[in-house]
Amino acid sequence: MEKSSLSRRDFLKSAGALATAGCLPLTTVELAFADQRKNFTFAYVSDSHIQHIKGSDFVRNWDRGLIRAVAETNLLTPKPDFVVFGGDLAQLGKKSELDHGAEMLARLNNKVYCVMGEHDYYLDLGEYWSELYGPHYYSWDHKGVHFVVLNSILTYDKWTYERWPTAEQRMNEMAGLDNPNGSPFMVGKKQLEWLRQDLAKVTKETPVVVFSHSPIQKIYKGWNFWTEDAEQVQALLRPLDDVTVIYGHVHQIQYNQIGNISFHAVMATAWPWPYPESYAQAESHLARLTVPMNRADPFFERDATGWQFVDMASGRVAMKYNLYNNTNRVVAYNPKTGQPEDTAYQDSGQRVSPQVHY
Ligand SMILES: [Fe+2]
Ligand SMILES: [Fe+2]
Repeated sequence: MEKSSLSRRDFLKSAGALATAGCLPLTTVELAFADQRKNFTFAYVSDSHIQHIKGSDFVRNWDRGLIRAVAETNLLTPKPDFVVFGGDLAQLGKKSELDHGAEMLARLNNKVYCVMGEHDYYLDLGEYWSELYGPHYYSWDHKGVHFVVLNSILTYDKWTYERWPTAEQRMNEMAGLDNPNGSPFMVGKKQLEWLRQDLAKVTKETPVVVFSHSPIQKIYKGWNFWTEDAEQVQALLRPLDDVTVIYGHVHQIQYNQIGNISFHAVMATAWPWPYPESYAQAESHLARLTVPMNRADPFFERDATGWQFVDMASGRVAMKYNLYNNTNRVVAYNPKTGQPEDTAYQDSGQRVSPQVHY
């Protein structure tokens, strides 16, 4: 599989035009194959956190993030084959928030695949979300690639069904970033069995792209940048040649390689999270955070948000982060070292110390 220089040049040209225009966090993914007819792109928008205030009032800043992402996605050339929304469409799972978000997503000139976020789920356990978007986990094939959407934000039944007197309290507890009353995210046994059966139909050589909301790796439990049964999901993905997991939830740049699985996080359209200082103290769970996400002005509404162009060739991802008020970065798979690397921060084969920047 080899990339076409023409399609790459054309795509970068359009991406550059969009960067100049100043678009919001969205991800475009180009899959390149030797057979040009199979090359295609898709866009990725995530974590819009539409928040209802009262009446017809919603938090304007979060609204603007999604509106702009939708508008920019509709301007992409070449037109993406579809769009993935990465979860946390709503802030507190309200029907009004999901409806308002759905109205904005409906303006996309593409088919939209949605991922469940914890902010969408914990009020009514995904009931209304399902009316809008269907099953909580599913898969499809597109031009030689197998795509899987997982619901990674489930948790213990006891926590979900017994601990809280009201659904609103349950939602509020799960909505906090560092709330000790929260519960770890997990995929759960039922979905693991579904995934096992789903992947049994896929040949080893087929590129597989998994979308989850929380990372299917353990990064930082204190903020739920974590999936409790991540190792069990990874075990099911291990027999495949090339797997990419793209996730939202963390509202920041992360990348990592575990065996055959490349991991990439995307930015949010709502706000950025800083890197927890504890990353530096918990090295065993440290993702390779060599792209400092400076937050020079936390009062600037679009600080440390950005959009990503993801170029996927030969089953591997090259993710191009276009950040507002920050230096653009490229994180690409290096076949020599077998992992994603930031070309600006790493020499090939050189492991660098964790860096935390605020
Ligand atoms: Fe989020
Ligand atoms: Fe989330």
